[in-house]
Amino acid sequence: MSASVTLGVMSIAEALAPAPPAGGYTLVIFVDGALALGAAAASALGDAAGLIPRAAEAASFKGKIGSALDILAPAGLAAQRLLVLGTAPDKEGEKVDYLRLGGLTVAKLGKAKLARILFDFASAPEDAAAAASDFALGLRLRGYKFDQFKTKKARKDDSENGGPVDLKIAGADGAAIAGIQGLADGVDLARTLVNLPPNLLYPESFADKAKELEKLGVEVEILDVPAMEALGMRALLGVGQGSKRPSRVVIMRWNGGSKDAKPVAFIGKGVCFDSGGVSLKPGAGMEDMKGDMAGAACVTGLMHALASRKAAVNAIGAIGLVENMPDGAAQRPGDIVAAMSGTTIEIINTDAEGRLVLADVLWHVQDAYKPAFMIDLATLTGAILVALGQEYAGLFSNNDELAQRLTEAGTKSGEKVWRMPLGPAYDKLIDSKFADIKNTGGRHAGSITAAQFLQRFVNDTPWAHLDIAGTGMAAATGDLNQSWGSGWGVRLLDRLVKDYYEKPE
Ligand code: BES
Ligand code: MN
Ligand code: ZN
Repeated sequence: MSASVTLGVMSIAEALAPAPPAGGYTLVIFVDGALALGAAAASALGDAAGLIPRAAEAASFKGKIGSALDILAPAGLAAQRLLVLGTAPDKEGEKVDYLRLGGLTVAKLGKAKLARILFDFASAPEDAAAAASDFALGLRLRGYKFDQFKTKKARKDDSENGGPVDLKIAGADGAAIAGIQGLADGVDLARTLVNLPPNLLYPESFADKAKELEKLGVEVEILDVPAMEALGMRALLGVGQGSKRPSRVVIMRWNGGSKDAKPVAFIGKGVCFDSGGVSLKPGAGMEDMKGDMAGAACVTGLMHALASRKAAVNAIGAIGLVENMPDGAAQRPGDIVAAMSGTTIEIINTDAEGRLVLADVLWHVQDAYKPAFMIDLATLTGAILVALGQEYAGLFSNNDELAQRLTEAGTKSGEKVWRMPLGPAYDKLIDSKFADIKNTGGRHAGSITAAQFLQRFVNDTPWAHLDIAGTGMAAATGDLNQSWGSGWGVRLLDRLVKDYYEKPE
């Protein structure tokens, strides 16, 4: 993974060395709501500290988080530019949000490609290591750019045009900063997979990218079409049968826990392009359906993150990779297929394909690995956008404890989930006249009937389904993300694993 932002650490003395790097650099410092500086920043600025209240007055700067003072060519400093960032929380009594502050730092740096950041505050953070790692993660997350297909890069080394931004943090815990790089790389990986176009990212090439996790010690197994046929994955294979690109299932295994500990399992929908199939989608906006593999991207990014930080857990990541295309060989509405579980499915709408893919992957994971729980992620329904918009992912679960933990991890990570109902009355809506079940449930409660469908392929295993159609792609941009592919879920699930499933040795 190449990051758009490279992070290093240096001492405060180095950061203030009188000989500036060629081309100059930006010095970043922080002030609170009283415009007070940390001790290191104050002594570093010396007489130049007097610039701050004057500039603040002129700019009505009150030290609020999200606001900044830009002082060019500050007299008495080696830096070419002094960037003063406010840290005062929006509401009184709130704690400083260092993650957001990291994102805002990159935003305010703008086109600067070289910066030295004095991680120093008037009132020191309660937990310095946590503050430094949150801050560094914010820098990395906001620093991501997907510009590999922009050929008109004026200057390769211009940060606006793709060159990496070189950030050095002074006065922060180097180990804490190093500790987040794997997670940031995992988020970046997920974002890039979602952003890549479908002529380049298709089931086989996606599987090749997943295979690269072997470098981190992940075991990667790729099931090709004959292997899936042997397992009886007719629900998944039916979706891919209209495509020139053969389907794949990839199983990634990270064995960081004790030998006999049950694995936790993450399952992702990887529809590399969803045209709808014979039940073709309307043309407008169809290009967005390259992102219909965001669930699989998240699972892959998560496995990257867990392996990078050598998480003390046994984790399975399983992704179902297909392309849903109309063709003479494509599946038809009216077809009946038998899933690996033996359940027969009547296809009503070939555009309700994600649930067909997940049915076989969920069943296989449950059967082969007997996991402690399964969490699937899928850009499953447009209806979840109607219900929750882009703020929350829909959470469906057969297990209150798992749902509670996901909700908690969501609040802490900022990748929020909202629990939706399941129940027998909804389940009835997918009974079929001709087979055991059908793949759509009518006009109402579309996200719920989709989840009910998945639940038909889960036995007693604790299970949660996250419908990420609103959060995983075409993301709303914000302080931490400007990318179309958001990488949503990697931080949520990394957090879940860290907080609840890693046994200290
Ligand atoms: N991939 C789509 C869902 C989707 C919609 C994802 C918008 C992201 C943004 C899914 O395969 C789909 O087509 N779902 C149908 C289901 C319907 C046919 C029952 C939908 O939501 O309309
Ligand atoms: Mn579809
Ligand atoms: Zn889809």
